[in-house]
Formats: sequence, C-alpha cells, structure tokens
Amino acid sequence: MAFINELQAVGTKSKCANYFLWTAFGFGVVKLTTFVLRFLSLIFDMFLLPPTDYSKYGAGQGSYCVITGASDGIGKEFARQMAAKKFNLLLVSRTLSKLEALKEELQEKFGVTVRVLAFDVSLDDNANYASLQKVCNELPVTVLINNVGQSHSIPVPFLETEEKELRDIITINNTATLLITQSVASSIVRHASKGNTRGLILTMGSFGGLVPTPLLATYSGSKSFLQNWSSALAGELKPANVDVEIVLSYLVTSAMSKIKRSSVMIPNPQNFVKSTLSSVGRRSGAQERFANLTPYWSHALYHFIIEETLGVYSKLVNSINYGFHSSIRQRAIRKAQRMAKSQ
Ligand SMILES: NC(=O)c1ccc[n+]([C@@H]2O[C@H](COP(=O)([O-])OP(=O)(O)OC[C@H]3O[C@@H](n4cnc5c(N)ncnc54)[C@H](OP(=O)(O)O)[C@@H]3O)[C@@H](O)[C@H]2O)c1
Repeated sequence: MAFINELQAVGTKSKCANYFLWTAFGFGVVKLTTFVLRFLSLIFDMFLLPPTDYSKYGAGQGSYCVITGASDGIGKEFARQMAAKKFNLLLVSRTLSKLEALKEELQEKFGVTVRVLAFDVSLDDNANYASLQKVCNELPVTVLINNVGQSHSIPVPFLETEEKELRDIITINNTATLLITQSVASSIVRHASKGNTRGLILTMGSFGGLVPTPLLATYSGSKSFLQNWSSALAGELKPANVDVEIVLSYLVTSAMSKIKRSSVMIPNPQNFVKSTLSSVGRRSGAQERFANLTPYWSHALYHFIIEETLGVYSKLVNSINYGFHSSIRQRAIRKAQRMAKSQ
C-alpha cells in the first residue's frame, strides 16, 4: 500500500514538473516570437521601408510648417529640409536677425514663403502665444515641429541646480511647448478635418528623458514629461487625422550638446533631421512604444539593445549614466578653471 502511495506521489510530482516545463516553454516561445517580430520591424523601419511621403501633409500645396527653435542646430535643419519638401514656413526663435537671414536663404533657394516670429519662450508671456495663434489662424498650417528646448549648461547635481536654470528648463521644455502646441494645433486640426491633408505634430524628446539621467535630473524629467504628454496627445488627435510623434535622440552635434565633431553615435543635424523626416510614422528604435520614434540608425540600435536587455529604468543603466555625466562634469569644471586662469 505504501509503495502504491509513493508511486502516486512521484506521478503527481512529475505531472507538476511537466506542467511547469510546458508553461516555461510557452512563455519562452512567446518572448522569442515577440523579440523576433520587434527585431524584424526595426530592420524594416530603419533600412527597408520607403521614406515618408509628405504630400499627405500638404507638401507643395501651400501648407505651412511651424518650427520652434528654428534659427540654429536641429531646428534650422528642420527648416531647410521642410523648405526643400516645399512647405511654407513659420519660424520661431529669440533672435530676429538669425531668423531673417534664414528666411532670405530659404525663400531664394526653395521658392517657398517664410514668415518669422521672434520671441523668448522662457518668458512664458501670454501675448506671445496669442500672436502666434493669430498668425496661425490666418494660415493653412498642417505641421508643427516643437523643437525648442534647453538643457543644463553642464551636468550638475540637482541640489546645486540654480533656480533660474531649473525654471527655464521647465518653462521652455514643458509649459511653453504645451501652450505653443495649443496655439498652433487648432489650425492644424481645422485643416486636417477638411479631409484633404493630414496634420503632423513632432516634438523633440531625448535619450535624457528616455533613460533617467543623473546630473541632468531636471532636463531628464522635462523630456520624460514630453514623452508621455506627446503619446497621450497622439491618442487624442488620431481621430482628427493628426499624427503626433515624439522624436527620441541621443547626442547630435550642436551648440546645446557642445559637440562639434560628428561620429557613428553622434550625427550632425543634417543627417539626424534627414533620418527623422524619412521615418515619420514608424518607430525605428522605439519598437515598444506607440507614437515614439528613435530615427537615427545608431541611436535606434542603441535604444533597441538597452530596451531588450537591461531596460531603461535599471539600476545598472542609471549608475553607468551617472558615471558618464560625472566625468563630463569634471571635464567641464577643469575647462572653466583653465579659462579663468588664462584671463
Ligand atoms: N543636440 C543634442 O545632442 C540633442 C539631443 C537630444 C535632444 N535634443 C533636443 O533637440 C532640440 C534642439 O536642440 P539643438 O541641439 O538643436 O539646440 P541649439 O543648437 O542650442 O538650438 C536651439 C534653438 O532654440 C532657440 N532658442 C533657445 N532658447 C530659446 C528661447 N528661450 N526662446 C526662443 N528660442 C530659443 C535658439 O535660437 P535663439 O538663440 O536665436 O533663440 C536655437 O534656434 C532641443 O529640444 C533639445 O533638447 C538635442
């Protein structure tokens, strides 16, 4: 009798082990399949699909594209490449002389109409948003590129961040970006609802927001805020025929990054904007996220690998990021000391 009981117990145990093994196998198959599908989608997005067709957004049909932070760096390149696609432009930044020079260049080279509006978005002045809205209400605006942004002058511990820098980052990256979008989007929705063209709202996010970034905490939080806000807005404006996407980028050569020489991981604004504009509507490196786009090929692979291995919120990624920005801070401090001595 005892022997039979023992056999039954062994049988039950091996049944349990069987169930466990089959469940584990099932999970493994699901994980592997989703990984393979995401990887194939990444390859298609990056290398195989044709570039985005901008006629659906009104290119060459008198439509306007509004670009903030348009007088330098990535924003200036968005202006050049959207003009080349035959969009008329409304360019916004602080410095009127830089905007006027760009206006002359683009009108002459591409035969499009360029309007400019100079204001300091860090002032968060309602009069500025009102004049932007007034101009947009009179124009067939179909595209908005929320490019203006500010980071910390050098990596800095949050507790030592100056109040002005903290307030400017939140005002420029968040409050002003949201209010500018409200000022421009009603015009975009109006034109998109007529049914002939779609609308498009792109916002510049950052790997600083994708991955929590010690020593750039305020910038990191502000860009992460934009990521969720933009994805939520994408859901709201989808029924109105307006595509909303956040563009995620690792470093690009510019005044903000203070990097002059491009490399495999750090493209210049021309190449970065070219890959962004040709990938609108896809995810590239941001495979796991709706309405997110990591367009540049090396950034896309980097994003995909982090997401598929350690994860953007992991302790290890956080501490590697801390070490990286700590060494940038030390170098920046040493450079400032050298410059102070030489004066
Ligand atoms: N460069 C990178 O490595 C990198 C990486 C990830 C994400 N991004 C994001 O990409 C966007 C563009 O960066 P970028 O590197 O091209 O910057 P940038 O070269 O410093 O250019 C910034 C632009 O914004 C304008 N601007 C700055 N402050 C302003 C203000 N208070 N009011 C109005 N306009 C203002 C500037 O023109 P004026 O000085 O004439 O106003 C300029 O046209 C930002 O949102 C940034 O966070 C950049």
